[in-house]
Amino acid sequence: MSGNGLAMFGGPRAVPKDRVTKDRVGWPVITDAERQAVVGVLDSGQFTSNNPGAGQVQLLEREWAALVGTAHCAAVSNGTTALELALTAAGVEPGTEILVPALSFIASAVAPVHRLVVPVFVDIDPVTYTMDPRAAAAAITPRTSAILAVHLHGLPCDMAELRELADRHGLLLIEDAAQAHAAEYRGRRTGALGDVAAFSLNVVKNLPTCGEGGLVTTDDPDLYARLLRHRQFGEDLEGRGKRDYISHELAGNAKLSAVQAAFTRCQLGRLEEYHQARDRNVRALLDRLGALPGLRVPHCPDDRTHAWHILRFRFRAEGMGIEGATPGAVRAAVERVMRAEGVPLQQYQPVPLPQQKALVSREGFGGYPWRLRPGDYGPGEEHPNTLAVIEDSLTLQRWHLNPAAGPVLQDCAAAFEKVWAHLDQVAALARAMSPAPSEAVR
Ligand SMILES: Cc1ncc(COP(=O)(O)O)c(C=O)c1O
Repeated sequence: MSGNGLAMFGGPRAVPKDRVTKDRVGWPVITDAERQAVVGVLDSGQFTSNNPGAGQVQLLEREWAALVGTAHCAAVSNGTTALELALTAAGVEPGTEILVPALSFIASAVAPVHRLVVPVFVDIDPVTYTMDPRAAAAAITPRTSAILAVHLHGLPCDMAELRELADRHGLLLIEDAAQAHAAEYRGRRTGALGDVAAFSLNVVKNLPTCGEGGLVTTDDPDLYARLLRHRQFGEDLEGRGKRDYISHELAGNAKLSAVQAAFTRCQLGRLEEYHQARDRNVRALLDRLGALPGLRVPHCPDDRTHAWHILRFRFRAEGMGIEGATPGAVRAAVERVMRAEGVPLQQYQPVPLPQQKALVSREGFGGYPWRLRPGDYGPGEEHPNTLAVIEDSLTLQRWHLNPAAGPVLQDCAAAFEKVWAHLDQVAALARAMSPAPSEAVR
């Protein structure tokens, strides 16, 4: 087939290969500033978090706290550790329960488990993909101690509702802001919306380092002091000339290196500029896609801003005029057709967290704290919105983070429009990929 037929059946790709270059879609963007900053650390000989005065780590901490609007920030080794330290420093007790959204990255579940806190999974809102406050209210028990508000994909949770719920039940409100750097909720930044917040600086994040890193923010001076102890073997180093090697609490080593901090400080200097460009590029893409029937594009409520870390698209068979195919088959058909056009759509989280193998089989952990809630992890039927979203949606990751991705995103829009002009072929493929009715009921 020629002309403007689907690439899968021999037509031209909507996203030509030679348009997809590192300078347009590569991430992170690395400039001479990063190169010089990293070399500067090597030349300085100050490699750790604990250089007195104005080491790179301390500077990053101050700059991030100022941008977020909190009194304190502690840099740590990665985002998962940031969550763990946030829980511990906030005083979330082992054996208690924490509400965690059923749709998130595994770290949101593993961090509590590592601190012997039981994750109780809560369904998401089907439009924002963040924790549904009504479902959260229904999941509270006398053992609940905290709510983990995951700002998934870069969109802040409904924090007013979650705050009200937390206050009503005396719970801690902890932000997992790993995907939502500098997003705003009612004029305040993520990281300043709960009692304590954890960010990731992983290389794929909106605020990356050249590897792994994390940040924890809080207004609470005591919580901050515990964070510092818990990233440094339980020791107190602040204000001491000489290390005394006394560990006041059982704690490991969770520090960030100065190289990682120096790299991130350069990225931080361009965070706002990159966000503005990304916001323009993504909105121009979504404006075009919003017109396509049956395609639900990411939604940003008026009272918040979106960091656009991940773009999730839902495919509604009915709106697309597709009959006789399961939602999963429609999603799989769209994925194949779009990838042939050159758009790397992919699933992000193939199962709800409570269906993750490690949680269902309880492997790799000595049994405790699982005994507290036997049988809680499994099919996940109590999270219907999470299941539906996973079944009928795909995501675009990373490409759109680059501020120069605008033209490629317009090609992506053209790919969607082209595929939508051939929905009869997508429908035929989806029907062929659907399980036979006899299989489906088994
Ligand atoms: C929602 C969420 N929480 C926590 C993390 C953990 O961050 P890290 O990979 O830096 O450990 C991630 C990382 O992908 C994440 O997406």
